[in-house]
Amino acid sequence: MTFLEKVEELEKEAVNKFESASTLRELEELKAEYLSRKGKFSTLLRELKELSAEEKPRAGERANFLKRKLDELLQSKLSSFEKREEKAPGEFFDFTLPGRRTWEGKLHPLTQTLDRIIEIFYGMGFEVAKGPDIETNYYNFDSLNFPQDHPARDMQDTFYLADDLILRTHTSLVQVRIFEKRKPPVKILAPGRVYRHEAINARSYCLFYQVEGFYVDENVTFADLKGVLVAFAREFFGKDVELRFRASFFPFNEPSAEVDIRCIICKGKGCSVCKYRGWVEILGAGMIDTEVFKSVGYDSEKYTGYAFGLGVDRIAMLKYRIDDIRLFYENDLRFLRQF
Ligand code: PHE
Repeated sequence: MTFLEKVEELEKEAVNKFESASTLRELEELKAEYLSRKGKFSTLLRELKELSAEEKPRAGERANFLKRKLDELLQSKLSSFEKREEKAPGEFFDFTLPGRRTWEGKLHPLTQTLDRIIEIFYGMGFEVAKGPDIETNYYNFDSLNFPQDHPARDMQDTFYLADDLILRTHTSLVQVRIFEKRKPPVKILAPGRVYRHEAINARSYCLFYQVEGFYVDENVTFADLKGVLVAFAREFFGKDVELRFRASFFPFNEPSAEVDIRCIICKGKGCSVCKYRGWVEILGAGMIDTEVFKSVGYDSEKYTGYAFGLGVDRIAMLKYRIDDIRLFYENDLRFLRQF
């Protein structure tokens, strides 16, 4: 066999083996076998000196070509192994393993409910505004016509932070904050957290969510209020929903109403959710009291307005048939993953 034939044979053999190497270890072994100082390539190269001066240059060139080829093959194999290794450090990536599950994040059921409520009112021309959770007695009570010693204040006992700072008990005061800055027409939706110092049980918690809606302009009437609330309820609960307006009292409204929907769980027959009444209260509403307009300098001869305050938790409980409000705040994943 001539030197050139030997080179060719070595090339075939080595290329084949390098290419089919599938682990780093195999590759290391092949490197030792073919490319080390005592490897097959060096051994062959030693035969070069036995060739004639005439044959030497071509044979040397051919041998060099093989060396380069094997070096390149080795490098490209190594780097393809490294890429695989990045994916699964320490070991090669096993493509036959089943994929790892990724956790899918989701919005909290209250956030989902809030988003849907906002979406519906946004469609009816309401802008979204927000006020701070920490408030003063003035905004939470006085500006909304709660007299200092009026029993209505007791219905909304709160947490006192310092001096005059309290956690707001409702979102109605966002009305005042907006009225102070803007002139009618204003048509606004103000969602947010509210706080009450109350005994905690399945139906009430020390914090919950409200969505306040209000519209002030010329000629706004109670019929407009009914119109938006009925439209909202149909959109949210379905076309067959029934609403009931009950006369009520809120110091910042005249007249005031509380609005119930026919229990969507028992269809009015009576169940534990509606406390066997057949109806569930979902919001308070009314025409904004002239006293509120007075405190912000609105002309109550010219303007009228309505306001409503929805209990988001209550609505979410109805929609998802949840019988304990505390579940929303416990962050138990077994509960949250269901939404
Ligand atoms: N702010 C009232 C409450 O928390 C609800 C309400 C809002 C009533 C707007 C009337 C109008 O009880």
